[in-house]
Amino acid sequence: MQFSSVLKLSNREKSDLLVLLFWQGEKKAKAAHPLGEFQAAVQTPLDLRDFQGREGEVLFIYAPNGSKERRIALLGLGKQEKLCSETLRIAFGQLTRACNRKGIEQIHVLLPPAAEMRHPNIDETLRGIGEGMMLANYRWDEKNLSNEKKNLLKSVTFIGLLPKKLEILEEIKLVAEAVYLARDLINGGADHVTPSFLIKTAEKIADRFPTVKTTILDKKRLEHEKMGLLLAVGRGSSHDPALIIMSYQGVPKSKDHTVLVGKGVTFDTGGLNLKPTGSMETMRDDMSGAAAVMATVAAAASLQLKVNVTAVAPICENAIDAKSFKPGDVYRGFLGKSVEIGNTDAEGRLILADALAYSVKNLEPTRLIDVATLTGSIVVGIGDEIAGLFSNDEKLASELLAAGQSTGELLCQLPLHAPYKELLKSDIADIKNIGGRAGGPILAALFLEEFVGGTRWAHLDIAGPAFGSKERPYLPKNGIGYGIRLLLEDLKRRAK
Ligand code: BES
Ligand code: ZN
Ligand code: ZN
Repeated sequence: MQFSSVLKLSNREKSDLLVLLFWQGEKKAKAAHPLGEFQAAVQTPLDLRDFQGREGEVLFIYAPNGSKERRIALLGLGKQEKLCSETLRIAFGQLTRACNRKGIEQIHVLLPPAAEMRHPNIDETLRGIGEGMMLANYRWDEKNLSNEKKNLLKSVTFIGLLPKKLEILEEIKLVAEAVYLARDLINGGADHVTPSFLIKTAEKIADRFPTVKTTILDKKRLEHEKMGLLLAVGRGSSHDPALIIMSYQGVPKSKDHTVLVGKGVTFDTGGLNLKPTGSMETMRDDMSGAAAVMATVAAAASLQLKVNVTAVAPICENAIDAKSFKPGDVYRGFLGKSVEIGNTDAEGRLILADALAYSVKNLEPTRLIDVATLTGSIVVGIGDEIAGLFSNDEKLASELLAAGQSTGELLCQLPLHAPYKELLKSDIADIKNIGGRAGGPILAALFLEEFVGGTRWAHLDIAGPAFGSKERPYLPKNGIGYGIRLLLEDLKRRAK
């Protein structure tokens, strides 16, 4: 998508569509800017209340003869006093969707005068608008099977915007590109997006951004490092497990180092504790955490953020085979702790345990954040639009909560309730990978905590919001790319 600007309505060129903005009024929608020559054209839909200006409402009408465009869209921003970034994302996401359905490629958007927008400032307003458009303007159609092959939006010109402000939109494009990368990786079939495909992707990112250094620990190296838990989970697959490490140093002089660990199970059958029909069909999304942390590092590099950040992704496939790791057996990982396997489907915490312990020992993290589609039970508890947050550090937790609040990626903090550790006790090993049914997400987090030592650490359980079962105003169905904007926002807030 190309963004451009013109200062005056009369200076605009021809395009497919002119977008006019409206607030929801008491009786009638109210224009957010002077309507000038379009007053007459919009009068009837407003009088008849065919259009009320509700958040994300879009009405197409035909432009008067002689206009530079044939269609006009009325776009609702909801109640003026309720304007916020999320409203802008929703409204402009819906506008983009409406354009996509008609194959409209080139549009002009008339911006209201700054005083109309009760929003912190023009930069934040543009951010909401740009994010809504970019996040919605995506289609996953790898095999081109869909009959609907209408083009996506290609060009957006803002009327009344200073050209300098376009920089913000360029930034948003780089972030969206990272989100698209993650979505493509999540959406791609598990026979295509294999561990070696993720490795190739990491290497491509490093080729593209020379400031990103990628290291791959292959199976041999994992054996040498004694990463017995990652090796155990990956054992039943014809694709070897690996550990991807991607580092970006934006402030080499600083010791500040955020390490992001992402669960990368390219397909989760459950292993010998096989998942039932109905629970396995979307399990290609079980590498959403890995996709998120890899994409975040790529975006940090493309934005040249002044931070140091490393993505660590343990990757493997949890498959069924004669060689699969076994329930009831005991395996020892990088940290040396022995783990009794109560259930081979609780595999995420096993591979994360090795990746977390390895990061603590080798990467000197000042903050460690893992992102994982870890438990089905968290979806039961808080639904599929919110991620669970656990942390051993209240400051880190509040930083992440604030970042998520601002990007619209909501987090719900749950306690690392120590007494529940009792439930993870094993007769034959140091710890067991499952407890009872009760408190599933907390038990998973408590298990991970055993592998981070005293490091400031947070765990995001994204099992719900990683994958959408339906389209939402600015988010697609299927792979969402959840967490990337949140992590980048958090990193930006600490940038030197
Ligand atoms: N990958 C799943 C969790 C998951 C479920 C992600 C639904 C996205 C949607 C994870 O590996 C898993 O299977 N967890 C088990 C843990 C249980 C065996 C303790 C679960 O949640 O059932
Ligand atoms: Zn599982
Ligand atoms: Zn899993």
